Amino acid sequence: MHFVDARNLPRHIGIIMDGNGRWAEARGEPREAGHKAGSAAVRRIVRLCRRLGVDALTLYAFSEQNWARPAGEVDALMGLLREFLVSERDEILENDIRLVAIGDLSRLPEAVREVLDPLRGASSRNGKMTLALALSYGGREEIATAARQLAVEVAAGTLDPSAIDAALLGARLPSLGAGDPDLILRTGGEFRLSNFLLYGAAYAELAFFDRLWPDFTEDDLFAAISSYQRRERRFGLIGRQVAGMLASLGETPNPPEEETPGTPGAALLTPPGASPSSSASV
Ligand code: FPP
Repeated sequence: MHFVDARNLPRHIGIIMDGNGRWAEARGEPREAGHKAGSAAVRRIVRLCRRLGVDALTLYAFSEQNWARPAGEVDALMGLLREFLVSERDEILENDIRLVAIGDLSRLPEAVREVLDPLRGASSRNGKMTLALALSYGGREEIATAARQLAVEVAAGTLDPSAIDAALLGARLPSLGAGDPDLILRTGGEFRLSNFLLYGAAYAELAFFDRLWPDFTEDDLFAAISSYQRRERRFGLIGRQVAGMLASLGETPNPPEEETPGTPGAALLTPPGASPSSSASV
């Protein structure tokens, strides 16, 4: 069981939900069955992030490159997406979750758009958590689109090229609407970003899991957050500078790797069903 400190949660978590196909194939089932089981994992993890108080969760549900998969699999994924948006609509609204979508939404079938767009609108003022679905999304494509927009403004004379810097470009990226991702997870045993949140990933902490996405548990998410909380994020500075900055903000650095939970003042959280008094393993 893993503990997390409620005071130091990653504000924005991104997840590459990999391994649905292998999960199904290992059971002799069609790949679509893996995606269906993956949808159930999505529900579990969205609920947990909302309960924990994570500000934003971005899920890589369908990449720009996934359009090239067999048509039957693409159709099944679009069907599951629609089903998720319909079945979770009330829970999303009741729990004050803002649903957004990033990617080339114009490529999505009408059956998805007709449930996605109203939910985006109806939830747009919700403030407890942002749930961003990356749909028909590619990090390179997103950067290219933003660069094209800037080029149009320069050509129109409304933007001075010397004003273009990393922050200005970043502000044009829908994937950073909820801020830079602090933690990016990938399941399924691969160690790559696969075109996910490329610009925002610059200083994200990364966590990789062998477990296939349909088997990803609440405790796995706790393990990832717990690991995140034991890392020193330096953003190109040296440790002493980071400690000084944190002190000036009245914050404490993360406890070192070997320290067990129970840091004075820490509000410890445990996965659902677990008791904080049971033995800790971090
Ligand atoms: C990657 O696994 C996963 C996807 C391409 C789709 C992810 C979709 C879901 C989890 C379900 C639908 C989404 C929502 C938001 C309801 P893979 O198929 O590449 O797995 P493999 O590497 O084992 O082949």
